[in-house]
Amino acid sequence: MQPVLRTSVLLTSLALAACGGGGGGGAPVAPRQLFLSQSGMVQISRNEQFVFVLNKICSEALGTGRGSVTIVRVKNAAGVEERTVVTEILVGSDPYSLTATADGKRLLVSNGKDNTVSVIDLGPVGAGPYTRLADILVGGEPRGTAELDGKVYVANFVDGTLTVIDSTTLSRIATIDLSLNGTRIANPYAVTGTPDGKLWVADFFARAIPGKATDAIEGFDDGKEGRVAVIGNNAVQAIVRLAPVADAGFNATRVAFDTANGAANDTFKAPAGVDPAQVPQGAMFNQLGSLAFDEAGKRLYLPTVAAQPAPPVKFDVNVQPLVAVIDGTAQTAVAALHKNLNKLIQDNFANEPAPTPPFTNVTNRLDRAFAADTTAAVIKNRVGAFLSRAGSFLMKAEIAADGVLTLARDARGAILRVPVTNLPGGVAMTADGKRAFVVSELVGQLTVVNLDTGIALGTVDTATTPTDPLRRKELIGQLKFFTGMGIPANVAADTDPRVIDTHRHRNMQSANNWSSCASCHPSGMADTMTWIFATGPRQTLALDAFFARGSTIENNLATTDQKISNWNAERNGSTEFNNNSRGVQGGHGFTLQALATIDAGQGAAAVPDAGTVFNQGQRLGISPALDFETQWIASLRAFNRPTTLDVAKVADGRPLFDATCASCHGGTKWTRSNRIVNNLTRWPDPAFNAAGTSLSARLFVPVATTIAAFDSDSNGSFETPVIDTTVPAVTLDLTNPIELRGAGGAIGRASVGANGSFAIPSLFGNQHTAPYGHHGRAQTLDDVFKPLNAGGLNHPSFGLSPTQLAAVLEFVRAIDEEQQIFP
Ligand code: HEC
Ligand code: HEC
Repeated sequence: MQPVLRTSVLLTSLALAACGGGGGGGAPVAPRQLFLSQSGMVQISRNEQFVFVLNKICSEALGTGRGSVTIVRVKNAAGVEERTVVTEILVGSDPYSLTATADGKRLLVSNGKDNTVSVIDLGPVGAGPYTRLADILVGGEPRGTAELDGKVYVANFVDGTLTVIDSTTLSRIATIDLSLNGTRIANPYAVTGTPDGKLWVADFFARAIPGKATDAIEGFDDGKEGRVAVIGNNAVQAIVRLAPVADAGFNATRVAFDTANGAANDTFKAPAGVDPAQVPQGAMFNQLGSLAFDEAGKRLYLPTVAAQPAPPVKFDVNVQPLVAVIDGTAQTAVAALHKNLNKLIQDNFANEPAPTPPFTNVTNRLDRAFAADTTAAVIKNRVGAFLSRAGSFLMKAEIAADGVLTLARDARGAILRVPVTNLPGGVAMTADGKRAFVVSELVGQLTVVNLDTGIALGTVDTATTPTDPLRRKELIGQLKFFTGMGIPANVAADTDPRVIDTHRHRNMQSANNWSSCASCHPSGMADTMTWIFATGPRQTLALDAFFARGSTIENNLATTDQKISNWNAERNGSTEFNNNSRGVQGGHGFTLQALATIDAGQGAAAVPDAGTVFNQGQRLGISPALDFETQWIASLRAFNRPTTLDVAKVADGRPLFDATCASCHGGTKWTRSNRIVNNLTRWPDPAFNAAGTSLSARLFVPVATTIAAFDSDSNGSFETPVIDTTVPAVTLDLTNPIELRGAGGAIGRASVGANGSFAIPSLFGNQHTAPYGHHGRAQTLDDVFKPLNAGGLNHPSFGLSPTQLAAVLEFVRAIDEEQQIFP
């Protein structure tokens, strides 16, 4: 009687696990048990005695360049709470997600950089010995992982597939293609099983709504939809579409976008009958980084970073923490239940004591911080925990029986908001909804939160912070990039980022934590949105190609191979984007004198040294915080190529690319855009004066052995015609309704002629930066080379036949860190 035997063995092991085991505990309940927290960096054992924590960077004593899992005992067998590190186990590089199997015996961890899943054995009864059993090869850039009925599903971000692994035999059972009737989940990220036996997987990026006209997609607030697939029998059964919301809850002025007020076209003016100064702004579900379900599995809650790319690009009508709700049974979106967490917070302003600077410590958390970058959530017993990654705090939510989500209040009636570890990346909860465990994506640290009182009970260091001086700076710079609050501008280079109090430095990055750099550049890459600036549409650029590989920017930026910034080659270094904090995000910036004006209650314009960071082109030395951010950007890696490519085609495409494309898209950055040209001349430091006027007449961009010169116009813009006519200037389409130019707003650079041109973009990890072109008009790589009237970008194909071009494009998809460069 095999099944009976197995049952009794299982019961024994669970009993043992209860007296000190790692992963086991709690009697198995038919028919199906699921951990409610999946596809995340932290999970709690079934007996709730242990918390499994994923560290992006392992302790120095264990190794370098790898991640690890730390097992923390949070309760002893008698039920007394404790916070004891049991052990730390190495996994692969750049880990993303951890899943504990339902039998309590194993942990599976996806390693993004390695294309593997590490399996940790927790011992026969879950109590150790703890060993890394195997590394299983999966698809390209694995992200979320989840177990359902003895199988672990792994979302392969760049392949658009799920790998299915048998949790017991550890063999790969299947690879699931995520398409249904021509609709594809191209970048699966979060995956979860629900108690009714369904498996759900979300596409990380919003996609063009089928049937929309080419020029009604990019740049508009309603052009794209979120997508979540339902999987059964190893195939996609249905795709739930999350339509954009028409009014995300905040209004903006569209006065400047009316031709009556000098705009180049009427595309974005206020609709008839709507006050032009108070136009409700729509939003699209983007960056679907996590999936949470209620206990019955009836509804799914998806925290997203919803995008509002239509103008104006301003902090409160830009990105929103929009939670989408799906009816799990009907498999449809429930628009009436979608909630904007910013709006929920704003509606409770009356109960929030106003902030009184200076904010001397984190316990003074009665701030009005909004939460634009919310990507992790877990729900149990109708209690939810949402994290603001940008704000380093946790919010408690309550889900009513009818599914309505509200933010819980503390004893004073204010939003219950708990400061947690910096850059929180995942949260797990006990089944009674009383404790939450929040893990950092930056450093090895866990915060334990009492969800009844809203008090952080303590932290546990789950890994040591690297002591290597360069690595320290990169981590501080990463925090600067991700925080919506701030860090000390003069932060000491050896500071452990876990002790930096971002709440004390609130309002540096953005007004009340509305957004961070990562709101549009998730993990430093691109959000795939086309933002409408006054000069025109601009696709977000991924930052992995900003510096050449091996760049040591410290002390010798002058000789560092760095791309010239932006589509129009109008910016010099990443420090110039401090002006983004100040101009777009409503912050005071990261100058040395910013904090004093914040504390004095003055606006950003009052910052005395603001002039040094306004269009100065200076790349180092404004403040340590900005320098370390530059350092972090230089450390970014490109995503791995998909594992699904046609290898023979890639090989055919390589020499063709060399002959046809490498003159512009070659070099270590996969663009010849370069601040230094053959050591002959380079873009000067600074490039602009405080008024934004160019101090240099010409910008030089190498094209093969010749140099293309861009002349700046009287307004300091480099958008005037290109002298070297081999640069495809024709991609600029002035008939495109989103091609706002010149007077589209009082801000922005002056108009360009019909021949306006664009600097050469990098093709690093290009398959992840769709859509293509400065205005994102080409939704696929093939579209790049189609004529405008066929929905294309009109990029020349330089005489390549269709077969040759197909091979070249397969090669382009294979451009990653491993691809050999054309020097
Ligand atoms: C509203 C979305 C948004 C936010 C917020 C944002 N960016 Fe960007 N970023 C963009 C877009 C769009 C571009 C391309 C702009 C252009 O070409 O004119 C870009 C370009 C860049 C580039 C140039 C890359 C290249 O290859 O030329 C850098 C560097 C950069 N951003 C850094 C930052 C930093 C640092 C922050 C935070 C202070 C930030 N960004 C915040 C959308 C955003
Ligand atoms: C003479 C210089 C030049 C050559 C040669 C060239 N390109 Fe481009 N490429 C550009 C410029 C400039 C843009 C930006 C156009 C725009 O945004 O409107 C661009 C854009 C692109 C894009 C879109 C990138 C993005 O991130 O949106 C792709 C893909 C691309 N090129 C591929 C190729 C391929 C493949 C070849 C060879 C067949 C090639 N290019 C040859 C200059 C060049």
